[in-house]
Formats: sequence, C-alpha cells, structure tokens
Amino acid sequence: IKTLYLAEIVVLGLVSSVLVFNLYFEPPSPVCPSMATLAEEKTYEGIEPTEKPIVLLWFWPIGVKFDFKACLTYFNIDSCLLTDNRSMYSKAQGVIFYHKNIQWNLKNMPQEPRPPFQRWIWFNVESPRNTAKKPGLENLFNLTLSYRRDADITVRNELLIRKTVLKDDFVLPKKDKLVCWIVSNKHPATGAIHVYGIAYTGKRLSYDEYYSTIASCKFYLSFENSIHRDYITEKVNGPLVAGTVPVVLGPSRENYEQFLPSDSFIHINDFPDAKSLAEFLHHLDMNDEAYMHYFEWRKYYTASPHLLSTYNEFIQPVCLACDHMSRDKDYHVVNDLYGWYFS
Ligand SMILES: *[C@@H]1O[C@H](CO)[C@@H](O)[C@H](O)[C@H]1NC(C)=O
Ligand SMILES: *[C@@H]1O[C@H](CO)[C@@H](O)[C@H](O)[C@H]1NC(C)=O
Repeated sequence: IKTLYLAEIVVLGLVSSVLVFNLYFEPPSPVCPSMATLAEEKTYEGIEPTEKPIVLLWFWPIGVKFDFKACLTYFNIDSCLLTDNRSMYSKAQGVIFYHKNIQWNLKNMPQEPRPPFQRWIWFNVESPRNTAKKPGLENLFNLTLSYRRDADITVRNELLIRKTVLKDDFVLPKKDKLVCWIVSNKHPATGAIHVYGIAYTGKRLSYDEYYSTIASCKFYLSFENSIHRDYITEKVNGPLVAGTVPVVLGPSRENYEQFLPSDSFIHINDFPDAKSLAEFLHHLDMNDEAYMHYFEWRKYYTASPHLLSTYNEFIQPVCLACDHMSRDKDYHVVNDLYGWYFS
C-alpha cells in the first residue's frame, strides 16, 4: 500500500524530478533485543578490574570482516579487547552473536559450557519483518544490541545537542532537483518502481557521491523497508546530514519525534493522500521561507554522517558493544527475546 503511495506521488507530476539511484549496498537496518530482568552485583575472580574485557565476535556478520582498529579510528572506543579468535572463548567476558548467522539447529553456537562471568550479546540489525524466529534463543542471551531504544545497547544515528546555538544562518546546499530517492539493489520496492516506470537511471551511486547527491535535492524520500517501532534508519540521517528535507515513511510521527525535532522532517501520514503531499512539496518549492523553516533545528543540533557500505554498517554496533562491556558489569538475562523484539 505504501509503495503504491509512492507510485502515486510520482504519477502526480513529480516524475521528471524524481531521481532513483541504485545503491550498491543494502541499507543498514537495525534490530532489537530484550530486557534484562535481574540486576545483581558480580565480582569476577581472577580478573583484574583494570584489565580490558575480552569481547569475542563469534561470527563476522554475514561474513563481512573489518579491522577492529576502526573502533578507535571512528568512534574513539578502545576500552575492550575485541577478537574473532574462538580460542579466547573461555576467557571472554562478552560474546557477540549476529542473529542472521545463527543456524536453525544452533549447531554453530559454542558447544563448551559458558563461564559464569560471560555475557552473550544478541546482535541484530534487521527489522522484525526480516528476522527469522529461530527456536532455542529464549533464555540464552544476556544483552541485546539493536536500534531499539529499549535495547541494552542501542545503536542509532542520534542528533547531538550543540554546545552553543549556531549564530550563522544555515547555507543551503545548491539544489537542482526536487525529490530524490536512493534505492538499494536488494530493496523489494525496487521492483515496483520498475513496474511504475519511474525515471530510473540504473546508475550505481558511489559512496563518494552519496551525501552530495542527496544535498542536491530539496526533498529526499526516506522510506523504510518495513514499519516497526524505532525502525528509523540512516535513510533519514543521510538527508539530515546533507542539508535536505526528509519525507519519511515508517513508524508514526510520534515515534519519529522521539528521535528528531518535529520540524526537521515531513511525515507522509500528515497528508490524507498523495496528491496533497505532492501539492505541499510544490508549495515549499515555491516558498523559500517556509522551506527554510525545516532547517531551523540545525541551530541547536547536529547530525553526524553515518558510515556507508555494508562493509561499515556492522562496525558501530560491535564498537558500542565493546564500550558497553567495559562500563557495565551487571548481571543480565534476556528471557522472552522474540516476545520483546516482535512486540
Ligand atoms: C588464538 O588464540 C590462541 C590462544 O590464545 C593462540 O594460541 C592463537 O595463536 C590465536 N590464533 C590466532 C589466529 O590469532
Ligand atoms: C547470562 O544469561 C544466562 C541465560 O539466561 C544466565 O544463565 C547467566 O547466568 C547470565 N550470566 C550473566 C553473567 O549475566
């Protein structure tokens, strides 16, 4: 239904100005975990408190490898010892399991008993719709790592509050397109676009061009691939960083407003139909003052560029898990993993 909505917008006269690029990578998506029910002081015998905890990445997420040094380079995180060496299992304080890599029979999970001090981290960046309910994962993990606000370790591109209000007016990047949309190869909606005959360049957008391309558009369609609570991805962060107004399709406006100022984006649900949305975009196109209102938030907050490419999308979560393991020493269990994630 929402895809049809897009098709309608396009039919309604934006066709010539809608640019659809074909991104080579899958958009980073987030995921969610469950709540710990118990907190209890634990002292670890034989582990010096000053020692960095060992955090073992059990699988390379969908086989994508990266250099653990990236945590220091990009996120200034160096507070644990990250490793992929399974011989370290019995010493590791934390073990990260990427959900998609777990076999349905759990045969590729550790077969040795879990040391009492060790915490297992459930790592998932897919939305519930794209998450398989593999049996046997309830009562197995201690921490959840996902985009959900109520995860134990939350991974998001958050706006930051400026130390001082920005005095200068925001200089709008030069715009020569009205509405843009970048669609990944594997995005299921891509098919629909072909069907509806949207101007489709077939061109692969390189990472270098990502922000500058978005910046050259007045509006950017930030359409999530599925609609779930807190599932608001880099598709919104990109235009906010670039200086473009995101037109969002995803969870409710209320949910977006938990993460973003209400006047930083246009929500599709604010309009009764595609026609009124298209008219509104045209109105803003003609009215600079009204359009510039969507950039007021930049005086108070900043958006940070996210790492592009599949290669990079797993780095931030793994680094945050490392950081979390060095600070949080609480006993935790995740009971109803799916009950929480799919709720
Ligand atoms: C993995 O760790 C073990 C035990 O510390 C060590 O002997 C081995 O050389 C390591 N393997 C690699 C590939 O680093
Ligand atoms: C981790 O979770 C498991 C399974 O719920 C539990 O048996 C174990 O005691 C927990 N350990 C820690 C250190 O939180």
